[in-house]
Amino acid sequence: MAKHAPTGCDFVSLAAPGVPGLKPYAPGKPIEELEREHGIAGAVKLASNENPLGPGTLALAAIRAALGSLNRYPDGSGYALKKSLAAHLSARASLACSAAGAITPDHLTLGNGSNEVLELAARTFVTPADEVLFSEHAFAVYPIVTQAVGARPIVTPARSYGHDLEVMRAAVTERTRLCFIANPNNPTGTWVGSDALAGFLTSLPRHVLVLIDEAYYEYVDEPGYPNGVAWVERFPNLIVTRTFSKIHGLAGLRLGYGVSHPEVAGLFNRVRQPFNVNSLALAAAAAALGDEGHVARSRRVNQAGLRQLEDTCDALGLSYIPSVANFLCIALPRPGSDVYAALLRERVITRPIAGYGLPEHLRVTVGTKAENARFAAALTRVLGCRTEPKVNGEW
Ligand SMILES: Cc1ncc(COP(=O)(O)O)c(C=O)c1O
Repeated sequence: MAKHAPTGCDFVSLAAPGVPGLKPYAPGKPIEELEREHGIAGAVKLASNENPLGPGTLALAAIRAALGSLNRYPDGSGYALKKSLAAHLSARASLACSAAGAITPDHLTLGNGSNEVLELAARTFVTPADEVLFSEHAFAVYPIVTQAVGARPIVTPARSYGHDLEVMRAAVTERTRLCFIANPNNPTGTWVGSDALAGFLTSLPRHVLVLIDEAYYEYVDEPGYPNGVAWVERFPNLIVTRTFSKIHGLAGLRLGYGVSHPEVAGLFNRVRQPFNVNSLALAAAAAALGDEGHVARSRRVNQAGLRQLEDTCDALGLSYIPSVANFLCIALPRPGSDVYAALLRERVITRPIAGYGLPEHLRVTVGTKAENARFAAALTRVLGCRTEPKVNGEW
């Protein structure tokens, strides 16, 4: 940070409790920044779990059509998007659980990315006297929003890198107000099944709100993987979040949402900024919802890419955490930060995850076939393997 003139104020001592101890979220750097810093060009970014195919054509057309109205404020209630989203979610939730009631716009909260809904949950319900529960290796935003409201984070040990719901249940106290469960989790790609999660929710006292973070929901293709939205009627203390940043390829527009009991959504509505979601995002998301072709293509490319990355690891004798999302967490023979730096010199951007308690792993986002092949070739050189292994008879 640049040096500034002294102010005579100790702002750190003036900050709200919890804030001085916060470590800012370290996002994957934009390609342009890394290219500038390292004097490289033509880098491949496999660092932020984005959709390598980009947005679908329907979303792009909707964005272009909305450009002429940028002089106007967006619809602060998100009326049209919430209506389509409610119908979309109800149709899918009833497939998974016929007993579920319909999702209505009143169940929905739109956010500036699903991150904003995570933050709203903390700001709305959690005070400095409360505890917030989440697992070791869980998504980095949970500790940030917890500490930002001055609450006490309770971090339970993971089992096989995933959430251990029994240990989490045992950690619930009178003070627990909110519990975050990432399903699947970033950065590990692990997931919890229907029976275990339903058992956990059933066992909880009602003063505990549970936020199931389903940012990667649309990528998962596993029997027994629960659709949290189908449970919102059954568990009034449940909040489910999803996003348009991942499979819909709209991370740059920032649009996510929460599904919860309407009373919870009503409280979020009091706390949120009046125009927290911009008009391009509203238009693009409504169009993306109807672009089933793009979603199906993105899922297919991801599944093939995940296999490609797994084959790369197998060929190099590296183990990895089995993932159901759009990234893979690879175990390395040396510090992840060293391999990250060496891959950067090869113009491949990945994500070291020491900050998640995994210093000898590297998270790699699934890219296109060509991008995955670039990663594989670069990793082979970096790890000093003499011959580049062939994967699927290619590269
Ligand atoms: C588990 C998880 N939850 C939430 C998010 C937030 O996504 P967004 O704010 O873009 O919707 C991410 C982003 O990487 C994530 O990995």
